[in-house]
Amino acid sequence: MRDMTPLPDAAPPVYTPFEHGRYDVTPGLLVLGRHAVQGRAESHVYAFDRQLPEFVRAKVEVRARLHLHYVQAALPPDLRRAALEAFLAPLARDSGGAVTWDGQRLANAWLGWSARLDLERGSVEGLRRKDGPLAHLVREVEPRDALDFIALNVPEDLTVVARDPATQEDWQAALHVCFPQGWDPRDKVGRSFAAVHAPVGGAGALLSAASRLTTAMTTKGPFVRFAWGLHASGGFGAHPALVHEEVRDFDPSSTWLRVERQTLAPLPGGAGAVFTIRPYLTPLLEVADDPSRRERLALALVSMKVEHLRYKGMTSWRDDVVAWLRGDHPGR
Ligand code: HEM
Repeated sequence: MRDMTPLPDAAPPVYTPFEHGRYDVTPGLLVLGRHAVQGRAESHVYAFDRQLPEFVRAKVEVRARLHLHYVQAALPPDLRRAALEAFLAPLARDSGGAVTWDGQRLANAWLGWSARLDLERGSVEGLRRKDGPLAHLVREVEPRDALDFIALNVPEDLTVVARDPATQEDWQAALHVCFPQGWDPRDKVGRSFAAVHAPVGGAGALLSAASRLTTAMTTKGPFVRFAWGLHASGGFGAHPALVHEEVRDFDPSSTWLRVERQTLAPLPGGAGAVFTIRPYLTPLLEVADDPSRRERLALALVSMKVEHLRYKGMTSWRDDVVAWLRGDHPGR
């Protein structure tokens, strides 16, 4: 019988982390469920909304070169199990029951598939397929393992941070990142927080706080944080091995605000953390529709220093965006 579970129809929110009128490279860690995000507390990890089909389609598409996106380094079985459990726990709640995990099987009524996950071995077994409104998108997909399967069921990218409680050393133990914005997961795997963030422009304070931040992410939280930028492409991400963002003249009609909503949750015993990343793309024309938002974005762009502009690839066109935002008729 045809599965009639309706797809989520909520519009994705427009997050505007620049609203305070400043670009900064700060931790910005908000306690999930406690601190307000744009006026209201958010407790979800996964955001299921009407963009779900686009995310599934895009995740299936990158599978032709999955090795560019899915990498692991020294992921101990105990940590893998804890991370899988942490990724699975919020699924039913955040999906409104369309995705369920009963401790053995993960079932997704939208994708019309279910599978048994062996958390000890990290494997996916006995994949079953039936009808579902998005079942056609995953008909040919063979998940590689449990983490890969979980990632296919959510819009978010997923990563696992490991931390050795004895030495306090941390490293990225697994990245399942389909939508990296200008960075290569293969450059980050096995690396520490400090090494991962070394290329970030103006990250001096962030790097000095690396030890404190890895302690926070592995022992406190859960947290939510946001990152943002303007980009010439409206794709969910830009893997440097696949996409070369061109230096170009500013064109408001082909510029997007890209915001990442990221969550962090600690794993038992301070042994690591799970990290999720969900990109939100909004055309700049739409962002600029609101005059107060427009000026705050202009202020935030003006506040960017040379090193921020260089890192964000905006050196040649930041002033043009600001002039356009402050012009008389920046609307459509
Ligand atoms: C306490 C937690 C974290 C904080 C405060 C933090 C902070 C930041 C900041 C401020 C940036 C620059 C954002 C911008 O483009 O404006 C950044 C970039 C980045 N972060 Fe994090 N981050 C955290 C956790 C993580 C984790 C767990 C990963 C694991 C993969 C990660 C991976 C990255 C990557 C890959 C970049 C881009 C680096 C590049 O361009 O080469 N971050 N982060």
